[in-house]
Formats: sequence, C-alpha cells, structure tokens
Amino acid sequence: MSGSRSGQFRPGGRSDVEGKRVLVTGGTRGLGEQIVRLLAAEGARLATCARTADDLRELTASLATEGYGPLFTRALDITEPDRLEEFVLATAERFSGLDGVVACAGGARGRGLEEADARDWSLTWEMNVGHTARLVKAAVPHLRRAGGGSVVVIASISGWKPGPQAQYGAAKAAQIHLAGSLARELGPDGIRVNAVSPGSMLIPGKRWDRMRTEEPEAFARFAAEFPHGELVAPQEVARVVAFLLSDASSGVSGAHLPVDRAQNAPTPGGY
Ligand SMILES: NC(=O)c1ccc[n+]([C@@H]2O[C@H](COP(=O)([O-])OP(=O)(O)OC[C@H]3O[C@@H](n4cnc5c(N)ncnc54)[C@H](OP(=O)(O)O)[C@@H]3O)[C@@H](O)[C@H]2O)c1
Repeated sequence: MSGSRSGQFRPGGRSDVEGKRVLVTGGTRGLGEQIVRLLAAEGARLATCARTADDLRELTASLATEGYGPLFTRALDITEPDRLEEFVLATAERFSGLDGVVACAGGARGRGLEEADARDWSLTWEMNVGHTARLVKAAVPHLRRAGGGSVVVIASISGWKPGPQAQYGAAKAAQIHLAGSLARELGPDGIRVNAVSPGSMLIPGKRWDRMRTEEPEAFARFAAEFPHGELVAPQEVARVVAFLLSDASSGVSGAHLPVDRAQNAPTPGGY
C-alpha cells in the first residue's frame, strides 16, 4: 500500500482495491478526503457527496490533475433520505454495480447535556446513525448483485470511551452496534460490515490542529493521553478503511477497529 504517515498518497505497487466501485460519504475534507485520495491512488472507482458543490468540484479537479478519476459526485445533505438514496442508485448505475460503501460523513450538534436541546440530539443521530442505516439499506441490492461487498462505518473513540457531548458518543456507540448487527444480517449475502473508530485526528486547520498552535500548553496536556505523544493522522485511518474494503480482509466482519494510537480520553477535558 502506498503513502506516508502524514503526506500525500502516491500510486505504486499492486493494490487490493484496484477496480473496486466504492461510494464514500463526506469525501471533501478531513478523513473522507484522505479515504478518497488513497482509494483513487490505488485505482478504485469512486463516488462521493458533500453539501458544498464548490468543494466537490475542487476535489474532482485536484484528483484529475494528479491523474486519477473521474470522481462521481453529488452535492447533497446526507440527512435527506431521498437525496442520499438517489445518489446510491445513480452511483450503482454509473459504475454498473457497487462493491463497497463508507459511511464517513458525521459529526455533532449542540454542547453538554444541559445546553443541548432535542433537535441537537435528533440531528446528531440522523447525521451519524440515520445516514449510515439508509446508506447501507440503499446499497444492499447492488452489493448483493455484485456477489457481496464491504461496508465500513466511521464511528469514533467517543463511541466507546466516555466524553463530553453525550449525544455524539451515544450516536457513535450506536454506529458500532449497527455494524455488528448488520454484519450478521447481511453476512448470508457475502456483505461484510465493520466499524472503524478513529481517535482524535490531527487534521490541518481543524480543532486539534488549531489547539496545537493556539493553546500549546493545553495541547501538550492532551498529547499525554497518547502513549507515543502523537495524535493519529487521517491517512493512518484511511489505510485501515482501504484494508477493510479490500479482499485482503475477507475474514473480517462485525469487527470494531479503533485506530487511535492507544489514546486514553477522547478530549483534553477527560474523562
Ligand atoms: N475529526 C476527528 O478527530 C474525528 C475523530 C473520530 C471520529 N471522527 C468521525 O470521522 C468522520 C469524519 O470526520 P472529519 O472530522 O474528518 O469531518 P469533517 O472534516 O468535518 O468533514 C466532513 C465531511 O462530511 C461532509 N458533510 C458534513 N455534514 C454533511 C451533511 N449533512 N451532508 C453531506 N455531507 C456532509 C463535509 O462536507 P460539507 O460540509 O460540504 O457537507 C465534509 O466533506 C465523522 O464521522 C466523525 O464523526 C472524527
């Protein structure tokens, strides 16, 4: 597999995902972008969605410049069931089938228990669990027709270690459970389902990276949650996702794989 720990992925060598037809939600930034870039470098046929059309155009152009593509995209909100389902169908039609899906888009709304309202809880659920369930349901007929496939659900360290924003942790825990349940339900069709739980990822310009430059002392305290002193990189998580999409992981289903460098608490505030 190609790529350095934190640099750009480079094509090279035989790839286990070459030719696979894969849809990744939320592929324009952060982890999703690194998954798309790695899979593109390894010769997969890719589709992705996000709400911001300009970002999709930019990513498509960037991949084309690097000699990959074409990337099939749709600007949509994953919490709108009809739009997501239509995109899965369009992707399967475009690629004449589907071999894998990655439920990567996700996130949280609201703050702690006393500040978060009912809408924060339901939106957080929809963004993570609802979108995953609908994505997999829409993909199943196509994966089945392909003789099986691989589903990767991006959960979080917050889904199995307590942290603030309980609505986020509870939704991520539900995604881990969903992967285990669906692995049993879809296993007879040769469809594997696994959950990957990234630790706190160091993504340029995002929360932990900003803390690193703006609050170095707080960041140093946080780094102590990592035995090696370093946060996990999104490229490291992307490699595990690529492995789970590949036939090299044919024996792995219903698993929950943390990729967190043995991180302890999910946030600097504990717990
Ligand atoms: N960042 C971390 O440290 C961390 C740690 C553990 C787990 N995770 C999980 O890893 C996944 C990726 O996180 P990230 O931090 O890399 O994300 P991110 O940088 O915030 O990127 C999110 C991606 O998803 C898209 N997206 C967000 N909401 C969407 C919506 N409602 N409909 C369609 N697309 C949407 C975004 O594009 P648009 O904004 O244009 O829609 C973007 O492409 C999430 O499931 C997250 O919970 C993250």
